[in-house]
Amino acid sequence: MGLRELFQNHLQTLQTETAKTLAELNLDGLVLSAGAPGWYFEDDQNPPFRSNHHFRHWCPMEGCHHLLLVMPGEKPQLRLYQPADFWHEVKAFEPDFWGDSFKVQTFTDEDKLWDHLGEGRRIAYHGPEQEKARKAQLLTDVPGLLARLNWARLVKTPYEIQCLLEATRKAAAGHKAAERSFRQGGSELDIHFAFMQAARSQEQDLPYENIIALNEKAAYLHYQAKRDEVHNGKVLLIDAGASSRGYGSDITRTYATEDAPEEFQALLADMTTLQAGLVAAITPNVMMGDLHVLAHQKIAELLIRHKIILDCDAQKAIDLGFTMAFFPHGLGHMLGLFVHDVAGKQLDREGAMASPDPRFPKLRTTRPLQPGTLVTIEPGVYFIKMLLDPIRQSANSRNLNWALIDRLMPCGGIRIEDNIHIHDQGVRNITREFLP
Ligand code: GLY
Ligand code: MN
Ligand code: MN
Repeated sequence: MGLRELFQNHLQTLQTETAKTLAELNLDGLVLSAGAPGWYFEDDQNPPFRSNHHFRHWCPMEGCHHLLLVMPGEKPQLRLYQPADFWHEVKAFEPDFWGDSFKVQTFTDEDKLWDHLGEGRRIAYHGPEQEKARKAQLLTDVPGLLARLNWARLVKTPYEIQCLLEATRKAAAGHKAAERSFRQGGSELDIHFAFMQAARSQEQDLPYENIIALNEKAAYLHYQAKRDEVHNGKVLLIDAGASSRGYGSDITRTYATEDAPEEFQALLADMTTLQAGLVAAITPNVMMGDLHVLAHQKIAELLIRHKIILDCDAQKAIDLGFTMAFFPHGLGHMLGLFVHDVAGKQLDREGAMASPDPRFPKLRTTRPLQPGTLVTIEPGVYFIKMLLDPIRQSANSRNLNWALIDRLMPCGGIRIEDNIHIHDQGVRNITREFLP
């Protein structure tokens, strides 16, 4: 199916969903705005602009201030902001595959976009321009609206999966180039540029800032520097994605050279198998919390097998908090227009939330992985001094092999992350199709 048809079906799904929402909330229509650019403090410069995610769910038009009016049974109305400007290029409206799905009007005056929007009708607004919306007599903060908008994001349409495929294709090219740069001795900055060039992306296009960590820095889960002075790393952890029409991929690979300690290379090989095993364990409607518990079990067994944890069975290693020290983040999260996408804890369209999993209260995703959802599976093992020191100083110290841990500490850690589409028959590992 071509992109045009995929997009038309995507909009049809949103139309049906929105008509139901409007009926439930006794509303006549819905306005979503792209939003206004921000400013750095007391500066005349803007941080990169990112449009309202719910606007983006409907419309791939880039830029700020556009408005979308959705009325049941009508073609959605797109009010495009097209100012006269010779300082910047105003991206012209190019209908492409999606344009004719909207009734399009263009405006050069920002305020005129809002004219007559709410008058005499019950039209709800969702977006960052609350003041303008109230002036336009739109209803802001309608109870139950945001939950329903988020709910419509949970199950991805085939169009959204197609966007993720394209975002994955770009990121995979970046990852391959990054690995080459690493093996040629590149610095974190070299590796970053190699990724960006191959992914044909600018910083503002990325779904999140690249995490490119050589050696010990891999122990910072969201390491943000790009050191240029360190070359010839023995370990690279790269967590980097790319975007397509607002949808981002979120991919992590860890590589080690032959100069890395043998124990680390062996651990990395087994983590790769472990991650694949967790992906294979996904069944439609499995609870993410249960998969997370399984990850802790597998990681406990791995650490025992590799003699990092001593004289202890897997359950005890979990109960004593050892696996939490080596794997302190969640196994995965919803993926979509946000890298940590909405509705990971939402149980129904009205907004009932799953109570936190008492075993792991910080998990971002606690709901069943129902067919149609898109998640990451990203187990890790890290050597984080801040988390290991308390164990070293405790009575349980004898259960960890400190000589080995100290040898592995300069390697930082391992994370392997793929993006998984759950469907009725099982799972599709989209990442591995492009980055085996
Ligand atoms: N890249 C952020 C994450 O993996 O959640
Ligand atoms: Mn992730
Ligand atoms: Mn990631």
